[in-house]
Amino acid sequence: MNTRENFGSRFTAIMAMAGSAIGLGNIWRFPYVVGQNGGAAFIIVYLLSALFLCIPIFLSESMIGRRTQCSTFGAMDKLVPGSSWKWMGLLTVFTPLIIFSYYSVVGGWSIEYLVKSLSFSFTTPELRAAAASTASEAVVRESLSTMFGGFITSTWMPLVFFTLFIAFNAVVVIGGVKSGIEKFTKVTTPVLFVLILLIMFYSLSLPGSAAGVKYLVKPDFSKLTSSAILSAMGQAFFSLSLGVGCILTYASYIKKEENLLTTGIYTVIFDLVFAMIAGFAIMPAVFAAGIEPGAGPGLIFETLPFIFAKMGVNMPWLSDVVAILFFVTILFAALTSSISMLETGVAYMVDHKKMSRVKATLIIVAGCWTLGLFCSLSYGPLANVHILGNTIFDFCDKMTSNFLMTFGSILFTAFVGWKMSKAEVKDEFTNGGEKKFNLAIFNVVYFMIKYVAPVVITIIFVSNLVL
Ligand code: TRP
Repeated sequence: MNTRENFGSRFTAIMAMAGSAIGLGNIWRFPYVVGQNGGAAFIIVYLLSALFLCIPIFLSESMIGRRTQCSTFGAMDKLVPGSSWKWMGLLTVFTPLIIFSYYSVVGGWSIEYLVKSLSFSFTTPELRAAAASTASEAVVRESLSTMFGGFITSTWMPLVFFTLFIAFNAVVVIGGVKSGIEKFTKVTTPVLFVLILLIMFYSLSLPGSAAGVKYLVKPDFSKLTSSAILSAMGQAFFSLSLGVGCILTYASYIKKEENLLTTGIYTVIFDLVFAMIAGFAIMPAVFAAGIEPGAGPGLIFETLPFIFAKMGVNMPWLSDVVAILFFVTILFAALTSSISMLETGVAYMVDHKKMSRVKATLIIVAGCWTLGLFCSLSYGPLANVHILGNTIFDFCDKMTSNFLMTFGSILFTAFVGWKMSKAEVKDEFTNGGEKKFNLAIFNVVYFMIKYVAPVVITIIFVSNLVL
């Protein structure tokens, strides 16, 4: 029997978990779904669901993982031997890999934009000249939007960067938990906070940014349609990497004496704080740039370069530095998250199929690369291929965030609430009764896991089906 690797300390465990949670979901997806759903009111629903719904799911996943020190399928089998629930658990192993495939396409876009910033593409003399007067600002907006559109709809370049992104993930995951994942995330996660804060302060200093701040803090409840509520909840699930066994797998590397509640709460809070800072870094810039907040997935890739071009009028070098920092931030954030998706699949193959890490990683990466290839091409040559009315990319995104992730969340909470014995759950949650605070709140947490979470998430799942 081989001994399972562990995260070395509480700090590194939290950095890895927070690294998984903080990602493109916070910097790329959060601002544009906020923009599509009307701002502050959406954020309120998002925060409430993160605190009341996501923490119980998070704890359920981490209890299953840490108790068994196994990835999804094996974990459920170990806790309730012979039950057929593990097959549903197996289904969740595929979800993070689907997400990994399309997520890596956007990861590739961020490498491309990092390369563009390194070659000073947002501060060319032409762009700076056009950005210098309000009259010709529209030209800048237009040429940046053409730049983005031209890039994602082309065939080869997005594929090259997407492949690079996937290759980097493979290298870290092959490195293993201690010398791969832990080493990488314990450095990049704290760096991310520093970088995004710098960008936020810069963004808030722009003329016209106040409108963006207002948009984020002044709720307009008339914009809160039922589909906005659902997408706020979906965003919270996505942002916390829930329902697909990522948290379960990472928790299986947490030491027995660690307090799961503390790890969970830190991770959720770091993720929420990061999303809010990212919101305040991006929305004010969107308003300052005169861009439509509901612009969709291209939002940050069109807004930020505009700001960089404007800033470049007077301070070209500073603007280039900020641009580079920004795209480095996005890339790091994306990598620490995508690694957790890949690891979930690899851990399953290693634990259950007794495969070597290298072989498991290569097989999975080959499969995901193939699916991602179609997702990438669905912005260009395959734009007309539709599955149930969506492009391939959107189909993968919707299927995972609306259905598979919610399904997994019901599964994990119901498993802990209804299949595991209450005594066992209590033992895991309180470290054998040792953690007194956890003991004091156990009944509330258990009630949330057993009754509230499965019912509410089932309602979300069904509403996604019918809406
Ligand atoms: N939470 C990450 C983000 O915000 C993405 C992510 C990592 C994820 N693992 C996941 C999303 C599992 C869904 C499921 O970018």
